Amino acid sequence: MTAAQSLHPPSEPERLGRPGGEPAPWLPMDILCETPDSEVVGQVSVSPSGPGAILIQNLRVQEPHRGQGLGVWLVAEALRLGGRQGRGRAWLEADDNGSGRLLRWYRALGFRDIGQGAHGQPAMETSLARALPAVQRQLRARVTGLPPYTLRAVPAPGFTARSRAASIERAEGRR
Ligand SMILES: CC(C)(COP(=O)(O)OP(=O)(O)OC[C@H]1O[C@@H](n2cnc3c(N)ncnc32)[C@H](O)[C@@H]1OP(=O)(O)O)[C@@H](O)C(=O)NCCC(=O)NCCS
Repeated sequence: MTAAQSLHPPSEPERLGRPGGEPAPWLPMDILCETPDSEVVGQVSVSPSGPGAILIQNLRVQEPHRGQGLGVWLVAEALRLGGRQGRGRAWLEADDNGSGRLLRWYRALGFRDIGQGAHGQPAMETSLARALPAVQRQLRARVTGLPPYTLRAVPAPGFTARSRAASIERAEGRR
């Protein structure tokens, strides 16, 4: 088995269950990439956005850990998390510094340019059907003998009990 194939999904529950075992509506999640010492060296935020889509935000890998495929791995897990929630599309705003390097990186993961986002950055989107094979190809190409990083999905900070309840009520149409 290659390192890319041995990567495993986040271990934490991705749905915030309620008494009785009923799954709550899906809330924004952060996927954290950690070393064995629990140092967070990368992360990405995933949230439901529009019908059938996820929004990918705040992707970052700490500099000493870049270039090993962790960025692709985080995007791959964000897409898989969306897929498990029944979402078929993903979009993002690329925080490109003007060099086009980041845009090329996202294009290699299956994203295509769709114009300018609300914050003036290039917006990109993809279907999961297109992106998942692309990220798998990139993982195979980039990840060779991965050091022991793990990924963990946690509810995005800022989701206090009150905002969580409000969000659930909104999602259920009670507000
Ligand atoms: C973009 C980023 C998440 C990639 O993480 P990573 O773990 O190095 O990603 P991978 O190892 O999977 O791929 C490395 C690729 O990132 C590309 N890249 C894009 N922006 C980069 C940057 N600022 N620094 C280093 N590499 C960058 C490199 O070109 C490289 O691609 P190549 O191997 O085809 O040349 C990481 O570089 C980063 O955190 N950058 C700063 C924050 C950022 O721009 N986030 C995106 C917000 S939309």
